[in-house]
Amino acid sequence: MAIRKVALMGHPVLRQIAEPVPDKQIRTPGIQQLIDDMVETMREYSGVGLAAPQVYEPLQIVIIEKQELMPEGEEATRTKPQVIPLTVLINPVVTAVTDAIAEDWEGCLSIPDIRGKVPRHTEVQVEALDRVGAQLRFTAKDFYARAIQHEHDHLQGILFLDRMKSLETLTYLVEFQRYWAPRD
Ligand code: NI
Repeated sequence: MAIRKVALMGHPVLRQIAEPVPDKQIRTPGIQQLIDDMVETMREYSGVGLAAPQVYEPLQIVIIEKQELMPEGEEATRTKPQVIPLTVLINPVVTAVTDAIAEDWEGCLSIPDIRGKVPRHTEVQVEALDRVGAQLRFTAKDFYARAIQHEHDHLQGILFLDRMKSLETLTYLVEFQRYWAPRD
């Protein structure tokens, strides 16, 4: 396993449309290594999700994980943290199952030390392949649905800033922690 370099906003790879992974390639060492490296990279930088284009691989692979205890000062962007087991989605198709939209804080490893409020569908249906190529179909709500939409956007070359209705909530992390972070 290896920690990979994370592409920062402005690098063209973040604006590319990612390519689907052919079924037959999912179990190959190259793709399995990429997924392992993405997991290690996401955990190293205390991210809640990571998309392959963020590690310079324009492929339709995203991972999401939220552990119960976040490292101090990191990603505490929700009043009631929701634990998300490690989820690997390959070639995901994400469909809103409700018109309901909620705004909440987001950050992104490609846009370090910035937070902003982003409107997202509160519930989505996901169809994807898992890391061994098995079909997944499930619905996700609230923070999980938000994380899936954020990561799925990366596969379309979309960053969370593009989704903000207004830039008024755009906030540096230090000020986010001082004024906006949920307190226990
Ligand atoms: Ni991101």
